[in-house]
Amino acid sequence: MERSVNEYIEANRKHWNEVAPIHTGAISYDVPGFKEGKSSLNSVELDELGDVQGKTLLHLQCQFGLDTLCWAREGAVVTGVDFSESAIDQARELAEECGIASRFLVSDVYDLPDNLDGQFDIVFTSYGVLWWLPDVTRWAQIASSFVRPGGTFYIAEFHPFAHIFDDAPDVDDLHVKYPYFNPGPPLRFDLEHAYAYAGPAVKLQNGETYRWQHPVGEVLTALVDAGLRIEFLHEYPFGLNFLPFMERVEGWMFRLTKHDGSVPLVYSIRATKPT
Ligand SMILES: C[S@@+](CC[C@H](N)C(=O)[O-])C[C@H]1O[C@@H](n2cnc3c(N)ncnc32)[C@H](O)[C@@H]1O
Repeated sequence: MERSVNEYIEANRKHWNEVAPIHTGAISYDVPGFKEGKSSLNSVELDELGDVQGKTLLHLQCQFGLDTLCWAREGAVVTGVDFSESAIDQARELAEECGIASRFLVSDVYDLPDNLDGQFDIVFTSYGVLWWLPDVTRWAQIASSFVRPGGTFYIAEFHPFAHIFDDAPDVDDLHVKYPYFNPGPPLRFDLEHAYAYAGPAVKLQNGETYRWQHPVGEVLTALVDAGLRIEFLHEYPFGLNFLPFMERVEGWMFRLTKHDGSVPLVYSIRATKPT
């Protein structure tokens, strides 16, 4: 039976509340490395966003704040937002333990105009954010409203084209399984266990999640319609190891071993708000 958008979002929020404490202990997030000073940011966003020293930065869907705190270490004055209370609790604890000045806020992205005032030099969001959102047009309007005139909006995201392939653990080639265009109800996923990259499998109570596929054209158009001037859209042949036949490039970024270079796995967009 089809559910309401709010019910889908609530199922997703329960999921993220449950996995936040698991993720802080996950090998791939490398919190111990972060505590020793290692950055969780990738060269893609570091190079493309450039110098953030002294700039105010709003991080949308910041999870438990690892990237947010890394931007703070790069010199930004950071505010992180996520709708998962447990993720934000973890973010605040991590910030306190590491002595990093920061502000974290629990809010659904769609409720942010009611929960946060002001505008920022940079609005940043990355990797695995848009498929949790039903309405990209509204998301872009809200993101743009928080960019000050002359400021920057930046997103680095998993490429939706990469998500059309069968991702079963035994696949050995690219087979189309999911639609690239999916204007209807979200796709349902049942993550019975916390992801393998979290270390030993952890049985989840809230494994049921719902995701909306947003083609790159839809995202770009939404940002333009929200009044942002696009500076670039880049696509990359590396991303998360969502298929079994991938090899590591750097950190958690992987390339396909078969068809390497043929499929876009990550994209990034930088835009400015006209003055
Ligand atoms: C894959 S994580 C993003 C991780 C990100 N790369 C990072 O570490 O900075 C997706 C995040 O989106 C959050 N989220 C999903 N839907 C949301 C919504 N409607 N409003 C706010 N946060 C949301 C989840 O709680 C989760 O923390």
